[in-house]
Amino acid sequence: MQTCRRPVSSSMVQCCLQSTQPVAAARLPYRVKVSAGKRYAWCACGHSKKQPFCDGSHKSKAPSIPPLRFTPDKDRTVMLCACKQTKGAPYCDGSHFKVIFQDLMKSIKGVFK
Ligand code: FES
Repeated sequence: MQTCRRPVSSSMVQCCLQSTQPVAAARLPYRVKVSAGKRYAWCACGHSKKQPFCDGSHKSKAPSIPPLRFTPDKDRTVMLCACKQTKGAPYCDGSHFKVIFQDLMKSIKGVFK
C-alpha cells in the first residue's frame, strides 16, 4: 500500500469540502410570513444556519449554489422549501415527499442487510 506524501494546501482541502449539490436543511417546508416589497435571499445550498434564508455559508461550503433572491408582491404566508429539491424555488412544490420516501427506502434496506 502506498501513502501519498504530497503537501496539501489549504485551498485544496477547502475545495474538496465544498458541495456542488444542495443538502436538505429539513424534510418539511418552512411556513414563513413575507412582506410585500421586501427583498429575501432564500438559501439554495442548505448550509445556512438561518434557514430558510441565506447566512452566507454558500461562499465557503457551496460557492456554485448562490441564494435565490425574491421580492413578494404582497404580504402573505408562504411555504419555503427546506429539502432544496423543489422545482419551483423558493417555494415548496411537494418534492420533499420524494426525499422522505428515498430516506425511508435507505433505512429499510439497512434493516435487511
Ligand atoms: S420542502 Fe422542498 S419541496 Fe417541500
